[in-house]
Amino acid sequence: MNVLVVGGGGREHAICWKLAQSPKVSTLYCAPGNAGIAQLAQCVDIAATDVEAMVIWAREHAIDFVVVAPDDPLALGMVDAMEAAGLRAFGPRKNAAIIEASKAFSKELMAKYHIPTAKYRTFTDEAQALDYIDAQGAPIVVKADGLALGKGVIVAATVEEAKQAVRDMMEGGRFGASGSTVVIEECMTGPEVTVLAFADGKTVKPMISSQDHKRAFDGNLGPNTGGMGAFCPSPNYTPDIAQRCMEEIFRPTMAAMQAEGRPFKGVIYFGLMLTEEGPKVVEYNARFGDPETQPLLSMLETDLMEIFQACVDGTLDELEIRWKEGAACCLVLASGGYPLSYEKGHVIYGLEEVPQWATVFHAGTRKKDGAFVTAGGRVLGVTAVGTDLKDAVAKAYEAAKPIHWKDMHYRRDIGQVWVD
Ligand code: AMP
Ligand code: GLY
Repeated sequence: MNVLVVGGGGREHAICWKLAQSPKVSTLYCAPGNAGIAQLAQCVDIAATDVEAMVIWAREHAIDFVVVAPDDPLALGMVDAMEAAGLRAFGPRKNAAIIEASKAFSKELMAKYHIPTAKYRTFTDEAQALDYIDAQGAPIVVKADGLALGKGVIVAATVEEAKQAVRDMMEGGRFGASGSTVVIEECMTGPEVTVLAFADGKTVKPMISSQDHKRAFDGNLGPNTGGMGAFCPSPNYTPDIAQRCMEEIFRPTMAAMQAEGRPFKGVIYFGLMLTEEGPKVVEYNARFGDPETQPLLSMLETDLMEIFQACVDGTLDELEIRWKEGAACCLVLASGGYPLSYEKGHVIYGLEEVPQWATVFHAGTRKKDGAFVTAGGRVLGVTAVGTDLKDAVAKAYEAAKPIHWKDMHYRRDIGQVWVD
């Protein structure tokens, strides 16, 4: 099969890496890809959000199967456009991708179908939002509706901080159209766990659990990032909790989307909080997480292409998905200054000294004069599998040792949860 993967980060590198191992895949393309992906796939210079150009290119190149990985093209309806052009595509259609694209939609869905989540109200009127905050008190959570690149959530410790967040979103235009509707939520407490699951519209098959680290600095300090590292499975996610999540959250969400005429096919991402009252949904995403995908696919034994086909064909119930024993950890090496301003174009040293047992996924790199140089905020994801979490973490740090470039930054505490 000729397969096209849409996207160009660490997540897409991991997807390409796993697909390249499938006997079903003959030629692999990635648009736009990056310098690491170019070692496995032919990169195509089309932006991930250019739906029209992507469809035309895929038709002209006899692509048999398209994998749409990032949130933006999914929200823009790239899967619908591929299908309309007669192409098979993995990922939710636009009417299902809305579960991530609109927090107002997902909160209403959960309320209507009794899926546990934080209590909330949606506001389009600023004065009413401010009054509600006064009435509820702090801590309280303010979210911009729509995709705000993970930066549209403020967990406010005080009423004043919450009000300022509402003013910034509704007046300041910081989030553009995303901020014209705000969701105000009860603040939940408890360990956070992520569960990604394959879905074929009816059946949902959870992957092993995972956790990422969103803050830029050690000790969960500093600004929110796309994720500075991730590991799987999460020690907090016990078999009892997994069963509750399946019964109270995963299956009901699939059934709710089906009942709404929006069957979900693709990967659904459950951001969960394990509260005293039980597991609750923090957020849904309509796609693989980044960097969670890097350790998760490192643990997957089953052919990923087979799983993607089953999701599209609606035959996921017939497929057994197998995972390795042990754990995996992905350590993100980022540009100094990320997620704020940072430099690009620095030569990356030491890649050839990384031990064979680790995998270095490229998130933001390009080739210049034969050398890999930095080309993004998150640059590399050094990923290792170990006998348990502690071993996987130690191996990821060990493998990253030879790598360096000017102002490289990484967290020293990825996966340090066993001491909690
Ligand atoms: P999100 O972009 O929705 O994933 O939110 C980013 C982070 O904000 C989450 O990972 C949580 O740590 C936190 N968060 C979001 N909603 C809540 C909530 N209702 N209560 C407590 N923390 C929250
Ligand atoms: N790592 C969080 C996400 O992909 O949304």
